[in-house]
Amino acid sequence: MFGIFKKKTPLRELLEGFYDIHSHLLWGVDDGCRDAEHTLAIDAELAELGFKGAYLTPHIIYGLYGNNTEEGLRKRFQEMPDGMKLEVRLAAEYNLDERFMEHVEAADNLLTMGGNHLLVEFGLGTTRVDAHLGDLFEAALRGKNIIIAHPERYAFLAEERNYHELEKLTSKGYKLQLNLLSLAGLHGDKAKRVAEEMLLSGKYTFVGSDVHSRVYTQVLREGTISPKVVEPLRELMENNKQLFGPTSKV
Ligand SMILES: [Fe+2]
Repeated sequence: MFGIFKKKTPLRELLEGFYDIHSHLLWGVDDGCRDAEHTLAIDAELAELGFKGAYLTPHIIYGLYGNNTEEGLRKRFQEMPDGMKLEVRLAAEYNLDERFMEHVEAADNLLTMGGNHLLVEFGLGTTRVDAHLGDLFEAALRGKNIIIAHPERYAFLAEERNYHELEKLTSKGYKLQLNLLSLAGLHGDKAKRVAEEMLLSGKYTFVGSDVHSRVYTQVLREGTISPKVVEPLRELMENNKQLFGPTSKV
């Protein structure tokens, strides 16, 4: 009974010096920041919370968001407004859709993070990963280190708690990225429970905010997490820094 009243840890206590590997701060290209002013405002809020750097990871999803291309995103990155407080770098969040392989085949053109890490996402409703294993393998063959974004949000975990399905990814050496705000409940109770369970069992390597808007910065500022996940979360935050170096050891 007394456990119910155990004090929660404010998320913002952990954010000093944070290097984020997942954000939607690149303006006007997806469901993240609308325009340059919005980007500057969110950047300032994140800096105030202690963030030091961020990979900008706009969605690349076929048929959505103006069919984002690497060239288009690089061009927009060149147009980033002056006055950004965070150290920002460009990567992307590739959806595992029917055009994913076209991006992979132009492997040198992919928007990756330090150490050739490629951030990919499944559709949230995904219940089986098998249809995507071939594409991921092809990307890995081309020297890309796969990072799976926010697995705790996918149906095979959030709904089914099907860790056997997850094993099909981790057994190939693909790394997993926790959404920080899953721990504060932003993505629902089921994702939160799975995120805590996976974090405590050492399944994640990296952590990202996936920040899109002020809804996210508000939870960063006011949200709380279970004290039991604080230490493993700090380890993921340390791992993130390796993707900001010239090479990656992870
Ligand atoms: Fe994202």
